[in-house]
Amino acid sequence: MLTRFIIFVFLAHAPLLANAIESGSQIAWTPETLRFVKNGNAEKGQDLAGTCMACHGERGEGTNSEVRDDEKISAIPALAGQLPTYTYKQLRDYANGDRINATMNAIAKSLSEQDAADLAAWYGSLSRPRHPIGEFDVAKAENMVKDGDGKRILPPCFVCHGQNGEGEKIDIPRLARQRAEYFENTLKAYKTGDRHNDIYSKMRLISKQLTDEEIKALSIYYQQIQ
Ligand code: HEC
Ligand code: HEC
Repeated sequence: MLTRFIIFVFLAHAPLLANAIESGSQIAWTPETLRFVKNGNAEKGQDLAGTCMACHGERGEGTNSEVRDDEKISAIPALAGQLPTYTYKQLRDYANGDRINATMNAIAKSLSEQDAADLAAWYGSLSRPRHPIGEFDVAKAENMVKDGDGKRILPPCFVCHGQNGEGEKIDIPRLARQRAEYFENTLKAYKTGDRHNDIYSKMRLISKQLTDEEIKALSIYYQQIQ
């Protein structure tokens, strides 16, 4: 009951608080945009995805850090199994400069809106592989995911991201089996405001409530989900 109340207060005030912070994204989910993304062509997306493979993997599985040519390439997200609307939004946010990453800004600018919808459809059609991590005490992270923390106005992650981190319609991403290292980086980036393309600052407000240790535990929790 208390948790429900807190979530209500949180969601009701997020837009007001957001006005004080930078607004985030130019994507507006009109019926036309939703239809446009839904009609993305996965086959065309597969052809375009040839240029993404070197980093995101053959089938969008992503990587945790590894060394290539003496240069550390780290924290590359899994794209497989992601909601197409979320992927589309991220590609447009990178293209518009609302989400900053030099590599992805250049790549997304070279894609048309149609390319972005086609790529989103292709990656959304793939299943995301498991990346087991061995022994891990899930209890602490699981509490935050399932109960949140009323003392901090921290809503449980599941109310938005789903019972098993499967994501929720329109722009709430799938978290299940996301690469832990990327997950950790991106939550820390919301926390500092380096990442600020979340509509109504939802994730900036939440990540500010989390310690770096909690962020790490959550990243491992979601990577190891069955
Ligand atoms: C040179 C390596 C590289 C290539 C090639 C590349 N990416 Fe990325 N991509 C990254 C990195 C690194 C990130 C994480 C950036 C960040 O933290 O904002 C990323 C992030 C993303 C995200 C955000 C995912 C999320 O969960 O928010 C999407 C979507 C994406 N890339 C799609 C693509 C597509 C589609 C292509 C091919 C057209 C592509 N990328 C090519 C390195 C690459
Ligand atoms: C009020 C709804 C809401 C709640 C509660 C919420 N999230 Fe989110 N989350 C979002 C939305 C919406 C996005 C996408 C924002 C954007 O477009 O950048 C997101 C994005 C993320 C991302 C980025 C994923 C990626 O692929 O880049 C991570 C990681 C994340 N959330 C983790 C969490 C964790 C952990 C919790 C619980 C402590 C949580 N979220 C609670 C709505 C929520």
